[in-house]
Amino acid sequence: MILNDAKKVLISREQIEQRIAEMGRQISDDYRGRNPVLVGVLRGSFVFLADLIRAVSIPLEVDFISVASYGSQKNSSGVVRLLQDLNTNIKGRDVILVEDIVDTGITLSYLIDNLKTRNPASLVLCALLDKKERRQKEPGILKYVGFTIPDKFVIGYGLDHAQQYRNLPYVSWVEEE
Ligand code: IMP
Repeated sequence: MILNDAKKVLISREQIEQRIAEMGRQISDDYRGRNPVLVGVLRGSFVFLADLIRAVSIPLEVDFISVASYGSQKNSSGVVRLLQDLNTNIKGRDVILVEDIVDTGITLSYLIDNLKTRNPASLVLCALLDKKERRQKEPGILKYVGFTIPDKFVIGYGLDHAQQYRNLPYVSWVEEE
């Protein structure tokens, strides 16, 4: 279908690797002596999270949460559904929420409000990509950002289009149909 498009590289494998090494070092410095829980938001973040944790040199735990936003593939409706909850009790824990991309911010804002009710000791957001231009709701806790990108629908490195392309080792984009 759009395989030719997927060959265009927006962010290369090497750029991702280098930036994640920096982010991992920063998280290790910021959380030294603590034992943070890194919470991956399924499904898009699993590739990023897998690489990120191996760039962090301090003890940590990993858990996952899954949400779905009603609406078309490219536009959040604002109505969010929790599909799979955490297994970890995050009360009193330092939580780092790990996302593939912050787009409108609608899904994340819901998730953040939900996690805050569980009284973590701290809660910050770490995203590989930030599509700032599209923001409707600002998740105030965005602390670690890999790359700020233009308003393009991106695929690869965990991000999908109709569930395809998550396995691309770099970030590419889809042309508007
Ligand atoms: P938001 O609620 O609009 O911020 O969207 C959040 C979710 O939409 C992300 O976690 C992604 O799963 C998905 N998403 C947003 N933009 C893109 C994109 O460019 N490519 C693939 N998925 C995207």
